[in-house]
Amino acid sequence: MAQRVRKAVLPVAGLGTRFLPATKAMPKEMLTVVDRPLIQYAVEECLAAGIEEFVFVTGRNKGALEDHFDLAYELEATLEQRKKTAELKQSQDATIKAGNAIFTRQQKPLGLGHAVWCARHWIGNEPFAVLLPDELTLDTPTCIGQLVAAHDKTGGSVVAVMDVPREQTKSYGIAAVKAEKDGLAEITGLVEKPRPEEAPSTLALIGRYVLLPEVLGHLDRHETGAGGEIQLTDAIARMIGGPPLHALRYAGRRYDCGSRLGFLEANVAIALDRADTAAETRALLGRLMKG
Ligand code: G1P
Repeated sequence: MAQRVRKAVLPVAGLGTRFLPATKAMPKEMLTVVDRPLIQYAVEECLAAGIEEFVFVTGRNKGALEDHFDLAYELEATLEQRKKTAELKQSQDATIKAGNAIFTRQQKPLGLGHAVWCARHWIGNEPFAVLLPDELTLDTPTCIGQLVAAHDKTGGSVVAVMDVPREQTKSYGIAAVKAEKDGLAEITGLVEKPRPEEAPSTLALIGRYVLLPEVLGHLDRHETGAGGEIQLTDAIARMIGGPPLHALRYAGRRYDCGSRLGFLEANVAIALDRADTAAETRALLGRLMKG
């Protein structure tokens, strides 16, 4: 039987230069989508999938992330006194249980593979999830939940993929796969950021992974790949031919919040989706489009 996935690694050391000046003094993962920071969507995605332990691989100036998931004693005591029950719940719901979050620093920007490797002691010898919080996914069950279910079935590693236009392969890890069955396909090749003419397919990795701990052994070697960085994609590629390794086609909604337009799209789409904001947002957009 497959071992249960209990832990998630959240690499959050990036500088967020595409969002300057907003990210000058604030982590990009704290940028707000409607009313909650980007990072909270990733944490809630995990919680909904039964994953309750987190390691945040951070860098300098990322303290706000740690504070965000802590108990906000003064704030919550004040809200309680003022009987602001709904607001109190919002704050409490953004708390990670004591002892369930660890923060470690990547120290040097050596790549995504290196960021995951920084969490190695804490991961130990069990399967784990990796979520890139820049990628916001919305579906029920959650994207990471779908990967966990696939892992339970195959006992191996599973990465989420989506088709992208061929000219965009240079922005992603790209998977070559065997025949697909129920959205799941065995991986035969993985390349990080190939040029469109060299890409083995247009199936892009979208920043959601469930990985067997074997990948850490490959990351231990610190081999560099695309862009001179230690790539997670390359370490996963080294597992081809070993224990089961599959790509799961994700069919839900996904927003690339690492780009300004994707971030804006996520804000509008989620505002249109939520019962408490949908009608007003639709009316607002109508007014703006007319003007
Ligand atoms: C990273 C991964 C890449 C993946 C992408 C998804 O790249 O290295 O394989 O496809 O995230 O967003 P980055 O966007 O950090 O350059």
